[in-house]
Amino acid sequence: MQITVDGKRHEVDVEDDMPLLWVLRDELDITGVKYGCGIAQCGACTVHIDGEAVRSCQVLAGDVWGDVTTIQGLGTPEALHAVQSAWIDHQVAQCGYCQSGQIMQAAALLAETPNPTDQDIDDAMSGNLCRCGTYPRIRAAIKTAASKLREV
Ligand code: FES
Ligand code: FES
Repeated sequence: MQITVDGKRHEVDVEDDMPLLWVLRDELDITGVKYGCGIAQCGACTVHIDGEAVRSCQVLAGDVWGDVTTIQGLGTPEALHAVQSAWIDHQVAQCGYCQSGQIMQAAALLAETPNPTDQDIDDAMSGNLCRCGTYPRIRAAIKTAASKLREV
């Protein structure tokens, strides 16, 4: 089947019922997308499909309905997405394992809600777990990214 990921079209030879997470990691070697739980409970595997944040462990390859964006295609090292640069400003990551999912979830939130309240942030981010407890810095970084994006 064909799949477009981070702006590149790929032909992959996989079963329809393979989770998108495995297509990305094992077939396309996009290991910035993380496997946490495999059962929609942690958010580590979050990517965008047509801009919508989805759990890639729960989307079957045959059901992918649009272009996929991963943490590796959200920005570039030369032109980081505002969320990525805010993450650096706030030194959000600790072990880092959950962070690509957090960033993808945050980017989808800001695309829909440019000026989120604390409640909006908590509601959008509540499914993304961080065992290192970086939640206060995540919230601060989302606010920084929101104000940067509103300036553009
Ligand atoms: S690995 Fe997909 S939600 Fe945890
Ligand atoms: S930074 Fe370690 S799990 Fe979130």
